[in-house]
Amino acid sequence: MQQVKAVVARAEGAPVEVVTINVPDPGPGEAVVKIQACGVCHTDLHYRQGGINDEFPFLLGHEASGVVEAVGEGVTGVAPGDFVVLNWRAVCGECRACKRGELQYCFNTHNAKQKMTLEDGTELSPALGIGAFAEKTLVAAGQCTKVDPSARPAAVGLLGCGVMAGIGAAINTGAVTRGKSVAVIGCGGVGVAAIAGSALAGASPIIAVDIDAQKLEAAQKLGATHTIDSSKEDVVARVKEICGEVYDGAEGADVVIEAVGRPETWEQAFYARDLAGTVVLVGVPTPDMTVPQLPLIDVFGRGGSLKSSWYGDCLPTRDFPMLVDLYQQGRLDLDAFVTEEIGIDDVEAAFEKMHHGNVLRSVVVL
Ligand code: APR
Ligand code: ZN
Ligand code: ZN
Repeated sequence: MQQVKAVVARAEGAPVEVVTINVPDPGPGEAVVKIQACGVCHTDLHYRQGGINDEFPFLLGHEASGVVEAVGEGVTGVAPGDFVVLNWRAVCGECRACKRGELQYCFNTHNAKQKMTLEDGTELSPALGIGAFAEKTLVAAGQCTKVDPSARPAAVGLLGCGVMAGIGAAINTGAVTRGKSVAVIGCGGVGVAAIAGSALAGASPIIAVDIDAQKLEAAQKLGATHTIDSSKEDVVARVKEICGEVYDGAEGADVVIEAVGRPETWEQAFYARDLAGTVVLVGVPTPDMTVPQLPLIDVFGRGGSLKSSWYGDCLPTRDFPMLVDLYQQGRLDLDAFVTEEIGIDDVEAAFEKMHHGNVLRSVVVL
């Protein structure tokens, strides 16, 4: 066991604290990772506010990269010294989904079995099974994916959550390819990542939709070809118009990605898709929200599909190394997502800044 500094949320709504925690030596199938960088995500704030569950105290942080320090018995996938990006859940390799070869849909994912604790022995709940606002954390070895060690830790750590969710919503769930038109509603970290993913795939046009002009600017830097300010313009009409100008007869976008997580923006996405188009929901709704009441004939008549994207339907072992390579080649601008690098004492201040129009991600660097 060892003691390290970490960011903990003790009670609902209380400011986070930097405290000393106990990190056990890795048991069978586990690894201890020395964290180098960890992004501040909305989900961390959600945990702190009691919006996920009430299993306080939480060890926050889950968009991270670092170096494996030690591994437990039976671990073969990673070794001490490996530079890794962490993911939320290690796959089991044995359930129906895994046996079908669809590991990204594993029904039986897991995290480390042992618990990290506060100095008084109170067990911590690590955010998304990671807990990486910490000098070191304990995870299941399968949560570690080896990537190019020369990559910038603050940039590639972001692949662990929001950026992967957005890119994956486009290239995995939405199956965006060159020659397809894409509209992305909501240009926060996730939406802008969906735009970057669509650009990587060669989509055109790529239409960014937001109510905030600053967000639309960021979207253009990452590959949006058109923007719609939905506080001023009719989203559905504009998407139809733009796509119709490029592709004769198009009545909307081939793929519309909803990255806000609200019924009214999902409804816009529904009507902005072309015939046989795909709607992808990646914004996270709250439990009280329901699907808008829509004529069933509109679902049937337009064909296509309505999907949701969970963690970008990513397979970390496939997607993380590929995206890090594209970043290293200068084809995916992950640096654009890092608004600022901060210290471990500045997480609370980063939560405050989260809703400023010009912050995509604050990243704790250790
Ligand atoms: N129409 C268009 N854009 C909107 C609207 C709207 N009605 N309402 C909000 N937005 C925009 C915001 O201006 C912001 O740019 O949606 C974006 C949401 O981005 P973030 O709050 O930064 O969230 P992000 O990290 O991208 O996550 C997307 O998934 O994890 C959840 O809570 C998160 O709901 C959010 C979503
Ligand atoms: Zn499985
Ligand atoms: Zn996250």
